[in-house]
Amino acid sequence: MIAEQRIVTERLGIIDPQKIEDYIDHHGYEALRKVLTGMSPADVVDVIERSGLRGRGGAGFPTGIKWKYVSKTPGDQKYVICNADESEPGTFKDRLVLEGDPHTIVEAMIIAGYAVGASVGYIYIRGEYGLSQKRFSHAIRQARQNGYLGEHILKSDFNFEIHVHSGAGAYICGEETALIESIEGKRGEPRTRPPYPTTNGLWNMPTLVNNVETLANVTAIIRNGAEWYHAIGTPSSAGTKVFTIFGKVNSRGFFEVPMGISLRQAIDTFGKGMASGSTFKLAQTGGSSGSLVPPDLLDIPMDFDSFKAGVVMGSGALLICDQNTCVVDLARVLLNFFRVESCGKCNPCRIGNMRAQTILNGIAQGIGTMKDLENLEMIGRYLYEMSNCGLGQTAGSPLRDILTHFRPEVEAHIISKDCLAGVCAMSGQPALV
Ligand SMILES: Cc1cc2nc3c(=O)[nH]c(=O)nc-3n(C[C@H](O)[C@H](O)[C@H](O)COP(=O)(O)O)c2cc1C
Ligand code: SF4
Repeated sequence: MIAEQRIVTERLGIIDPQKIEDYIDHHGYEALRKVLTGMSPADVVDVIERSGLRGRGGAGFPTGIKWKYVSKTPGDQKYVICNADESEPGTFKDRLVLEGDPHTIVEAMIIAGYAVGASVGYIYIRGEYGLSQKRFSHAIRQARQNGYLGEHILKSDFNFEIHVHSGAGAYICGEETALIESIEGKRGEPRTRPPYPTTNGLWNMPTLVNNVETLANVTAIIRNGAEWYHAIGTPSSAGTKVFTIFGKVNSRGFFEVPMGISLRQAIDTFGKGMASGSTFKLAQTGGSSGSLVPPDLLDIPMDFDSFKAGVVMGSGALLICDQNTCVVDLARVLLNFFRVESCGKCNPCRIGNMRAQTILNGIAQGIGTMKDLENLEMIGRYLYEMSNCGLGQTAGSPLRDILTHFRPEVEAHIISKDCLAGVCAMSGQPALV
């Protein structure tokens, strides 16, 4: 039986998130005090690097290396950005932290600023997250009143300020360079990289961008040490992961476990099994840009490297689907999402998503041909190879996955005009998109 281990979510439901005293009573601001009274910026970067922490925004980039890049890049002004856009469908882990323990992010941002040499931080919070914005703004005010934020923090020579920036509902603004453009007041379109934000970020200055969950690990690592953290999880992916589970399971919500849990364990232990009358058909893991996982991959341990075996961990969203899911319809919904959310800057993504969705519509309506499947494969390849940013590069994943794992079901729509799940447009049911 897998048990929860709470680091990121350790104070959720235990403290009153609106009271700084509660946070302080639960080891709050201890890590900041430790850093400012006995560690150099290089020491802090070293601890984060040795801990093995990797970015929880989806890609798993080693956090210590990113901190080191920013710390070593000269710049009159550097910035720390906390990415709290959290627009990946089905993902709500960052919201839970911001609403339930906002001071841990305030504290981590200050520590990150000290480590990389930044004096200004921004948090970019998803526009729909009104309560997160309110709680976080309140936490900033309290931290300032208590000497943890502003000038001469804890009577040291270190100054740091944090600004809250609200998103406005665009998925692409979670991509770090589009987010930076958005803070600068421009249209949220990803930049061409390199250069990366570590050298040319906000206002063209060295900028550290980290996800909420990434930062939520920082204070515990500073307090307990790199070795403690590194011993948790799998060899390539240290620490815990917060997962959100929903769909056809008995219990929906979130849980935090050491890296390496399999989908089967997640469903059985935290989803409390498949819902009555439901048989597992597939799971969408890691959100829209993740993977569609068939039953034979249920036992793959999930971490940042499990994508090689066909299971993307990504943001940790686990959508569990049963026998009533049509894979053609599911792919149509996902491609529609990417079509709508594409910023339109580059052709492969702007046109490719639209073309793929049109082809899938035809297949679902019974007018598809076998040539369509070749075209879908080609579009998926072009999206991956030629798109400017991660949105386009991952948009072809559902196409790849349905054609790899569920090809006979897709072909049945073309050859025998049959929807095996009995739910898509050709079966007389209303189309989802
Ligand atoms: C289309 C798209 C959307 C993204 N959305 C988010 C998001 O909502 N939150 C997030 O932290 N990272 C998101 N990312 C990843 C960020 O670009 C970036 O890698 C991340 O914030 C870095 O933080 P980390 O190293 O702590 O993971 C997104 C990337 C892409 C391509
Ligand atoms: S891949 Fe899509 S979202 Fe990314 S820059 Fe190109 S058009 Fe915009």
